[in-house]
Amino acid sequence: MRLQKPSLASFALVAASWLCWTDIVAALPASTDTCMVDIKGSSNSTLTTQCSADYETQRFAFDWNFNYHPLAIYYPSTVDDAAAAIRYAAANKISVAPRSGGHSFEAYGVGGRDGSLVIDLKNFQQFSVDPDTEVATIGAGTRLGPLYTRLNATGHLIPAGTCPTVGIGGISLGGGVGFWTRLHGATTQNVVGMTMINAKGEVIEVSKTSNPELFWALRGAGGGSFGLVTEFKVQAYKAPPVVTVIVMTWPVEKFRDLIHAYGTWGATVDKGAFAALVVSGTYVELMVNYQGNTEQTQAILQPLLNMTGEPTNTTTTEGNWWTAASLGGRGVDVENPDLQHHRNHRGRSLVYRGVMSDAEMDVIESYIYNSTKPETSTKVYVTYELWGGKIDDPEVPSVFDYHKGVVYSIQTGILWDVPGNKPGVDCAECTKWSLDFSNALQAVYSSGDKIESYQNYMDHDLPNAMDAYFGPNLQRLIDVKNAIDPDNVFSFPQSIPLKQES
Ligand SMILES: Cc1cc2nc3c(=O)[nH]c(=O)nc-3n(C[C@H](O)[C@H](O)[C@H](O)COP(=O)(O)OP(=O)(O)OC[C@H]3O[C@@H](n4cnc5c(N)ncnc54)[C@H](O)[C@@H]3O)c2cc1C
Ligand SMILES: *[C@@H]1O[C@H](CO)[C@@H](O)[C@H](O)[C@H]1NC(C)=O
Ligand SMILES: *[C@@H]1O[C@H](CO)[C@@H](O)[C@H](O)[C@H]1NC(C)=O
Ligand SMILES: *[C@@H]1O[C@H](CO)[C@@H](O)[C@H](O)[C@H]1NC(C)=O
Ligand SMILES: *[C@@H]1O[C@H](CO)[C@@H](O)[C@H](O)[C@H]1NC(C)=O
Ligand SMILES: *[C@@H]1O[C@H](CO)[C@@H](O)[C@H](O)[C@H]1NC(C)=O
Repeated sequence: MRLQKPSLASFALVAASWLCWTDIVAALPASTDTCMVDIKGSSNSTLTTQCSADYETQRFAFDWNFNYHPLAIYYPSTVDDAAAAIRYAAANKISVAPRSGGHSFEAYGVGGRDGSLVIDLKNFQQFSVDPDTEVATIGAGTRLGPLYTRLNATGHLIPAGTCPTVGIGGISLGGGVGFWTRLHGATTQNVVGMTMINAKGEVIEVSKTSNPELFWALRGAGGGSFGLVTEFKVQAYKAPPVVTVIVMTWPVEKFRDLIHAYGTWGATVDKGAFAALVVSGTYVELMVNYQGNTEQTQAILQPLLNMTGEPTNTTTTEGNWWTAASLGGRGVDVENPDLQHHRNHRGRSLVYRGVMSDAEMDVIESYIYNSTKPETSTKVYVTYELWGGKIDDPEVPSVFDYHKGVVYSIQTGILWDVPGNKPGVDCAECTKWSLDFSNALQAVYSSGDKIESYQNYMDHDLPNAMDAYFGPNLQRLIDVKNAIDPDNVFSFPQSIPLKQES
């Protein structure tokens, strides 16, 4: 399939790396000719191959411990170029992995295995807010830090996550819980339209009225499974005039009181508040973010403090919402959240519909405090993020509605250092520790008779993961998958399958 005549610039690129192209082509099906350069497209689109100088800095996910080798990484600058690349991949039976912020817990933004064509959307940075409808148009390569700054400049916000390096692509296709989600719903529940390229390379509009089944499926199960979204239209909201963030810490011995108080208080607190609790080996920390001044924020916290007693340390920041959002970055340069920010990490999500049982707290005590940690680990933790509020009462149905009624989601995790700070280095001990901890917690799961988990914290080790993420929605998702991508061009180890696994 001839897509486009190679430009002179792209010809030079292929000539300089001829040997490597031969290697790549040798790995492709026999019918593939050597014209892969055709995906070079227009002059501002670029291609990183296995022999490009920057391949070793571009092939990793935010979680640096994964060591996958994509076939190539393509950075289209236009929708047409992205479409041509998808047609190329489909014709040559190559899996396509869209990448927005690269924060998939399983490195699915680079395919989650070797040999995918990564289509990185970093050149898609368009931004505007319609003054009448307050709908924001957001390029699919935008990360939350720069997005928050652009929104703040127009006096708006969208509900989304706390980490500035996360991409709008993954977060808004799989959920999106954090600042303002209790007030306005998960990010995905606020997506009102998308421009998507399907596996045939056709550009389609997806909304409540255009491709409605796909619209339902993309919002909650959309990451990497159905097509490549180049642009999001997201309902934005006027930013509140004053926002306060209070961060409190307690000594580790108080962890049971905090978990108990957090679940009890969180189930009924004003939905203008968002809160995250971190139980780690050295402290217990609670961060509360509220649309109000310091006094008002202290007032909504009082019932919780009545259960826990006063914290050892308290830091209060009153300001505008951007100041509050930037605190989530904890030192990351919000404006420059590039690929070089990283960590080594394994973790798992479980979601809860009420306060944890004593048995669950015993498991946390035993792993976080009493167990021997792997030598290289730098931190072990459980974080609790408050859900509910408007998440339970969305304007338009989506896959994400399966999680209505969840009080909080937890994430168990372990972080570690690698000597020399090299990417691609796994820690078998850490993975084992993480698995043992998550499995022990799961064995005493108190929140219903089967495990429920947040699909944006994907985990290939989670048994019955599809059921945990999507519940009764799975068959309908499979039907959408068959209709839109029957050849499974958009696939990775945990993508929506073409049929139920038996
Ligand atoms: C440090 C950290 C903090 C986090 N904080 C939060 C938080 O506060 N709240 C929360 O809800 N979640 C949070 N997450 C989870 C996060 O929402 C998911 O990991 C999300 O999938 C990341 O999106 P991404 O675009 O950065 O990642 P990517 O790895 O680029 O993408 C994730 C998946 O979506 C697909 N995808 C990405 N863009 C597109 C697109 N344009 N079209 C089609 N498919 C696409 C990818 O192929 C991949 O399968 C956090 C994750 C990390 C690592
Ligand atoms: C490439 O980018 C430059 C600078 O942003 C722009 O002026 C030019 O029009 C772009 N070219 C194409 C073909 O998109
Ligand atoms: C965010 O918006 C507020 C209110 O308009 C403004 O004062 C502040 O400077 C903005 N912050 C940034 C970082 O742009
Ligand atoms: C907290 O406890 C104090 C004293 O015990 C009581 O007066 C107050 O009403 C309680 N506040 C809340 C919000 O529960
Ligand atoms: C409280 O703050 C002090 C001084 O900033 C610090 O030394 C201490 O470690 C903090 N304690 C906790 C429990 O975070
Ligand atoms: C953790 O260790 C303490 C002190 O040895 C002990 O009292 C407690 O029972 C242990 N907890 C668990 C869950 O094993």
